[in-house]
Amino acid sequence: MLLDKDDEQILAGEQGETKQKMLELLVALGKVFGAERLVPIKSAQVSGASYKTIGKYGLEWLNSLDARAVVPAVLNPIGMPRTRWQEMGVDAAFAKNQEAVIAAYARLGIALECTCTPYYLRETSYGDHLAWSESSAVSYANSVIGARTNREGGPGALAAALVGKTPCYGLHLAANRKPQVVVRVQADTRDWAIADFGALGYHTGKLVGNQIPFFSGINPARDQLKALGAAMAATGAVALYHVEGVTPEAVKVPYDLGSLETIAVEIDDVRHLFSGIPVDAVALGCPHCSPEELGNLARLLAGKRVKKPLYVFASQGVIDANLKSVEIIEKSGAKVYADTCMVVSPVMERYAGIMVNSGKALAYVPDMCGGAARIGTTEECVRVATE
Ligand code: F3S
Repeated sequence: MLLDKDDEQILAGEQGETKQKMLELLVALGKVFGAERLVPIKSAQVSGASYKTIGKYGLEWLNSLDARAVVPAVLNPIGMPRTRWQEMGVDAAFAKNQEAVIAAYARLGIALECTCTPYYLRETSYGDHLAWSESSAVSYANSVIGARTNREGGPGALAAALVGKTPCYGLHLAANRKPQVVVRVQADTRDWAIADFGALGYHTGKLVGNQIPFFSGINPARDQLKALGAAMAATGAVALYHVEGVTPEAVKVPYDLGSLETIAVEIDDVRHLFSGIPVDAVALGCPHCSPEELGNLARLLAGKRVKKPLYVFASQGVIDANLKSVEIIEKSGAKVYADTCMVVSPVMERYAGIMVNSGKALAYVPDMCGGAARIGTTEECVRVATE
């Protein structure tokens, strides 16, 4: 692999053992995937942040490292809100371990913005090379923004943050970003909600696996694209998709679809996912809410009181910039928490039935929280929480 002088110095240990090991890891990854060079990255997003997922040995490994991030880097959601964990009912022993994980990342120069929506906090542009981990963030960066990132594992993203580069293979190369299957949606989706697109992603991810789909017949807005991509990354391994006339590469790049297989999706494929189960709690914000989603929730909850626990998850930056909406939401008795989510927080394990408006949460809640999950539109979720 082509390495520059700086890389050679790092590999010779001249910038410390941690950086040396991290670059060795990136070079080894690059060799496995046939990368010819490293590419400088604009930012990193590092998974492996919740103590629920990394445990004691992950924490020990983090504490053994000694280097600082050289590009902007943020964390994935952790197991609790950093400042309101007692209010959320997080166990003190878990909180102590989670704080130790946070402290370890802070020492490595990773910003303590714990979110799966880093694109709301720092501008990310078309063509930027990134090393992001969380699958929905990867999907959004590649598909909605037109940036370039592979779905990094936690150690690979951390190594890229500390070195400032990542191996140039996979979705960093234009040749690997072409559509591989056409998905023709045979339904009138003009009045579809975010949850409908989440359900479409849930269904389509199972059909396409890790291929790059090219959708026709839909015209989703940004939050709907976010829901679609997050769900496809959960039930399949879709890290990039295109939507005809909507996503930037589908508009800018003249892709030839002529020889591709076409899959049809009917309205019933999506509708049958909206079945009812008893609900103990409602959880919204998977991926973390956008400013518009918080604004919509504030409108829906204004003047109402929740009768079931209603959790809303968003990044601290989005919460701070939308305090008016947050105040209205919390006045209803709902809670708006930063840094964590319904899947990575151990608190959600106490509920047998959780209602969500997200196809990704529909896929992950049963395995990660142990309860059953039901999908509904945001309006239905608010109705179930307040009636
Ligand atoms: Fe984000 Fe948690 Fe969903 S990390 S995408 S809110 S599962």
